[in-house]
Amino acid sequence: MALLRILQYPDSALKQRARPVENIDGQVAELIENMAETMYAAPGVGLAATQVGIDRRVIVLDLRPEDAEPGKHCLRLINPEIAEREGEIVWEEGCLSVPELTAPVRRARRVLVRGWTAEERQVQIEAEELLAVALQHEIDHLDGTLFLDRLSRLKRDLYRARRRKLARQGRQSSSATRPLLI
Ligand code: NI
Repeated sequence: MALLRILQYPDSALKQRARPVENIDGQVAELIENMAETMYAAPGVGLAATQVGIDRRVIVLDLRPEDAEPGKHCLRLINPEIAEREGEIVWEEGCLSVPELTAPVRRARRVLVRGWTAEERQVQIEAEELLAVALQHEIDHLDGTLFLDRLSRLKRDLYRARRRKLARQGRQSSSATRPLLI
């Protein structure tokens, strides 16, 4: 297994729409395991292949990373697709690829997601609230969309200006609290 480098905004690779996996082979299985390891190490609760510069529709998620058995609740999904969405929810989101920002984002409260496992089983996941939010956030990544893109233009501009300022000063600001990074 290996840790992968997580790309950060404004890396243009984050804007690419990832290609579907056509063959669930050993390479895909290895990618999934490396992504899971990278997610736990970050630490974050979700990661899409786009975020590590891999052009494939693969995501990993674990909303309970501090469980007694790490990895037990890791959701690994290939070619995930949202089949149904319902209701509305606003959740404070953060992202491993968008450092130093959390913001409320409006999404569907419930989603039905279909995809494949690394064992080539077709799965269907009915998700609500945080799991629904995290799935939508990760599938957005596969479509080249960051949660930043779902904020108002004003918030985006303020964030860009802040990032530029920090980059000029050659440092990252430190935040006291660790948000949920998906
Ligand atoms: Ni993210």
